[in-house]
Amino acid sequence: MRDSSRPRSSARPVFVRHLLGIWARKSGHKEVPTVKRDHFDELLYQAIETELGGEQVYLKALECARNEDLRKEWQKYLDETREHQEILKRIFEAADLDISAESPGRKVVRHKAEGLVTAMEMALADAGPEAAQLVAAESVVEAETKDHQNWELLARCVEKTSGALSSELQKAYDQVGEEEAHHLFHTQGWARELWIDFLGMEAVMPPPEEEKNVKTQIGAARAEHQRDDYK
Ligand SMILES: [Fe+2]
Ligand SMILES: [Fe+2]
Repeated sequence: MRDSSRPRSSARPVFVRHLLGIWARKSGHKEVPTVKRDHFDELLYQAIETELGGEQVYLKALECARNEDLRKEWQKYLDETREHQEILKRIFEAADLDISAESPGRKVVRHKAEGLVTAMEMALADAGPEAAQLVAAESVVEAETKDHQNWELLARCVEKTSGALSSELQKAYDQVGEEEAHHLFHTQGWARELWIDFLGMEAVMPPPEEEKNVKTQIGAARAEHQRDDYK
């Protein structure tokens, strides 16, 4: 059954869109991109800054991690975040954009990541190791909420762009989409269960989101709802 929570753009294979592009060129049919190009560029700048900031957030979060399963998970997510930076470089090339160019939104994204790193440093210094791990889990959730949304938006742009840029976006989303869902929904599960443990109640670790390999918001809601079955 088709997962209706995935963006529709991933439904059409790359080769079909490639053939449609050839048809459009040969027939003289002009494809009209319906995405606002300067706003799309802004999304790309924010996306690369999110991945760069995400690397710093994971490095600090790893200093705060005490649970060994969580540490392994975050190490994997850190490696994937670095890969996402490389994947975005290819999209910037296809979009003919300077990846180092500054934008007002990009500065805001950088500032937020720096704030999350500072929050973890404060917790490490003053709040004790257990609380620092909680702050780290919440910080990763905040960073990954933006990261996940960036990629879902980029997936929506596949059919609103054309040529090499459209192909590169689709290829990138096919590689990254599921990983971003894991980063966000699995860490959300960790943050909830670590808090439940901190409150002295019975926690489920690793969280059911991980056991069920959750990839969608609906799946995450279901995992949380069924957490009692995992105790
Ligand atoms: Fe990412
Ligand atoms: Fe991510």
